[in-house]
Amino acid sequence: MIASIILVILLSHTIESSKFTIPEATINDIQAAFNQNKLTSKDLVEFYIQRIRKLNPIYRAVIEVNPDALHLAEIADQERKNKDPISRFGLHGIPVLVKDNIATKDKLNTTAGSYALLNSVVPRDAGVVNKLRESGAIILGKASMTEWAAFRSSLLPNGWNARTKQAVNPYVATLTPCGSSTGSAISVATNMVTVSLGTETYGSILCPSSANSVVGIKPTIGLTSRAGVIPISPRQDTVGPMCRTVADAVYVLDAIVGFDKNDAVATKKALKYIPKGGYLNHLKLGGLKGKRLGVMRAYHYFGFSNDTETLNMFEKHFNILRQNGAILVENLEIVNFDHIISMFSSQDIALSAESKLALNAYLKKLVTSPVRSLADVIAFNKKHVDLERIDDYPQDVFLAAQKTNGIGKLEKEALMNLTKASKYGFEKLMNDNKLDALVTPYFEGYSVLAIGGYPGINVPAGYDKNGGPYGICFGGLKGSEPTLIEIAYGFEQTTNFRKPPANKNHV
Ligand SMILES: *[C@@H]1O[C@H](CO)[C@@H](O)[C@H](O)[C@H]1NC(C)=O
Ligand SMILES: *[C@@H]1O[C@H](CO)[C@@H](O)[C@H](O)[C@H]1NC(C)=O
Ligand SMILES: *[C@@H]1O[C@H](CO)[C@@H](O)[C@H](O)[C@H]1NC(C)=O
Repeated sequence: MIASIILVILLSHTIESSKFTIPEATINDIQAAFNQNKLTSKDLVEFYIQRIRKLNPIYRAVIEVNPDALHLAEIADQERKNKDPISRFGLHGIPVLVKDNIATKDKLNTTAGSYALLNSVVPRDAGVVNKLRESGAIILGKASMTEWAAFRSSLLPNGWNARTKQAVNPYVATLTPCGSSTGSAISVATNMVTVSLGTETYGSILCPSSANSVVGIKPTIGLTSRAGVIPISPRQDTVGPMCRTVADAVYVLDAIVGFDKNDAVATKKALKYIPKGGYLNHLKLGGLKGKRLGVMRAYHYFGFSNDTETLNMFEKHFNILRQNGAILVENLEIVNFDHIISMFSSQDIALSAESKLALNAYLKKLVTSPVRSLADVIAFNKKHVDLERIDDYPQDVFLAAQKTNGIGKLEKEALMNLTKASKYGFEKLMNDNKLDALVTPYFEGYSVLAIGGYPGINVPAGYDKNGGPYGICFGGLKGSEPTLIEIAYGFEQTTNFRKPPANKNHV
């Protein structure tokens, strides 16, 4: 009797442990498999390269595979065998895709999806790539994106760029995959990689995370270095993880935060937000208990939904939060809303001027490049109408930016407006109501988080009747990542909404 129980336990244990498969494996699963000698980094990289070969022609989420990835995996395997101290890091031996606007000083191109930057040579790895390598991660390749992070044309479809063409939502092909970190989201959703990095200026991590059912963290400005990232606005640009689980995203966040001398002012200022002992400590069960979450039920022009259907759909989620101990604070009012919303509209003025300055500075620093300024990029596009499809997707946003002339009187006023809108809008609302976070349907509220450089986390929240994924977003004040992680993890662990795309191509 006892023997047969033991046998059953042993059997179920072996069955359990022999069940390890790469698709859907978390970083914890993979590290356990490494430690039990059931898996090597080389196995992982070989698997993902095969999978990219098979699935990428459908989804177009990967723009380039690193020709050195297998070699890097062999090095990681050797380090693990030698018990090298680097092999103790969470990301050691884990393949990562980075968005195509994040520089890597290797055989990969860094092009923001545009032919204009093909064959340009970057001076060094981006700050975040440097930190990934220091933590032992393997750069598997570059993820596709909306070209120039949607800053070329207001008509460019989300997830389209000249080099990979249109990326496809793996859940429902007719739905938008959103952008601009499109490939970063799709590649992890479809198990073409373990984890990825995206960037956000204005919704570019939160929106594709919601649309492709992955976890996306948009960090506080300066928490992660923007050095070596093809820029739009240093005031709003940020780099963050896009992963299948909150825990995986936290492993990546832990690896990429911190000071970088090439983005010194912002990364130094944000150092105070990094918790001692890192973010992993904030993955605790019961993380929702006692958290005060603000629910916005109006303010359409702020990007908060006031439509009854959406809000009814999310009543279920709000109840889950309540049942797990969160305190939902309703009927929030923004004082002087009309005034604040009019200041808010200054964003276009600011971004237009900032993007020209920042892009010109980035292009100038390249070691070699076919383009050295925004003017050169515009000329390149005019010359390569067919390649860049300028007739279909004109470069209106670029042309508007090119007309600006630095931060003058108008821009200063616009920037002042944005600061005030954040201070008297979002910050006042959070502080007056003692909120830990705002909770919003989909990725709503992203614009408020964007203009003030505030953090947000999107977590998968289910699928609509057509199978279309949607997320829920938790946003907070600067440096509130530890609290947001507790909330996001609490929600994820009680709901487990995410399912991999059910597509016959995947088996
Ligand atoms: C980078 O672009 C060049 C020019 O198209 C190409 O030959 C090379 O293969 C690209 N690198 C990778 C890793 O795909
Ligand atoms: C929702 O917002 C729209 C746009 O601002 C407005 O026209 C409409 O009256 C609002 N509806 C409700 C129920 O507040
Ligand atoms: C600043 O905000 C005010 C409204 O509060 C608006 O009238 C003005 O046009 C804004 N200025 C700029 C440059 O956007």
